[in-house]
Amino acid sequence: MSTSADPAPLSAAAQAQPNIALIKYWGKRDARLNLPAVGSISITLDRLWTRTCVRFDPQLAVDQVQLDGRTDAGGATRVCACLDLLRRRAGIDLRARVESWNNFPTGAGLASSASGFAALVTAADAALGLGMSPAECSALARQGSGSAARSIFGGFVEWHRGQRPDGGDSVAEPLLAAADWPLSVLVAITSRAIKSVGSTEGMNRTAASSPYWTAWLQAQMADLAQARAAIAGRDFERLAEVAEHSCLKMHALALAARPGLVYWNGATVEALHAVRALRAGGVPVFFTNDAGPQLKAICLPSAAERVARTLHAVPGVLEVVAAGLGEGARLIGADQVGAARAGAV
Ligand code: DP6
Repeated sequence: MSTSADPAPLSAAAQAQPNIALIKYWGKRDARLNLPAVGSISITLDRLWTRTCVRFDPQLAVDQVQLDGRTDAGGATRVCACLDLLRRRAGIDLRARVESWNNFPTGAGLASSASGFAALVTAADAALGLGMSPAECSALARQGSGSAARSIFGGFVEWHRGQRPDGGDSVAEPLLAAADWPLSVLVAITSRAIKSVGSTEGMNRTAASSPYWTAWLQAQMADLAQARAAIAGRDFERLAEVAEHSCLKMHALALAARPGLVYWNGATVEALHAVRALRAGGVPVFFTNDAGPQLKAICLPSAAERVARTLHAVPGVLEVVAAGLGEGARLIGADQVGAARAGAV
């Protein structure tokens, strides 16, 4: 807690991890406030991270943003807009230097925007001495990128659609801690190219032109309820069924947009079939996939080695990255940010 006699440090660093949606967020009910058309449920990963240092500096005339050691004009616009929200809240007008590192490839369907904005808001909150609650951090991270609302928390997380026009109730909350139901995640990397149509554009196009849009909105409550119950009861089969359903349904919507969005390549589909064949043979594993070509397999830890071996053997799978479930966003020492690449996966 900071007081007026105890000025904010103006600089802080934070780490956040990507999350993978099991019940998908796809579509917005308010673009300006980035409010989702539907609620969603995710798992936060360990091992993969974004580390971000934010320093507000009276000497700076403009924000300076470096992502993975490069000045990135595209990403910087969204970062500056998010910093503006924090500055307004703090009642200050100082520009900031932001240095951010990922230990996994940016922009290739591994949700670097989720961990990125969760880390940014957590660091900037501390630098400005705002003392925001996790729910408030979640609401601000959401305005940077929707899925970032969920990376504020660890383990199993639900992000509520909310009803209020101002979005005050569209925040994430934890459902179950990572340690309470350990799962393994194997990410099959099938391409390192930056995706052609980003999530924001893809979901806007889908909402505007997919004939299945209304059906998607109507069924989400039931999918969320099934996933919530499966998580509370640690019912793997029940979670597997609804998570694969939500994933395929999101892609069915997107495929039917005009022009249609095809996020998969051949290896994505082969990997999906390999996961299904494993489950048909009794291995506790299911797949999910987002707005990109990577296929994510989620399994009980006892099956992780078998699943990794199977994915490795799929033609076109370049690499398999293994993770478990991890913690939410948190402050770290500024010296840990510079050391980021040492831990690249
Ligand atoms: C397919 O959070 O990247 O991964 O809010 O427009 O920044 P914006 O979108 P983003 O979309 C993620 C979409 C998804 C599903 C999900 O994570 O729930």
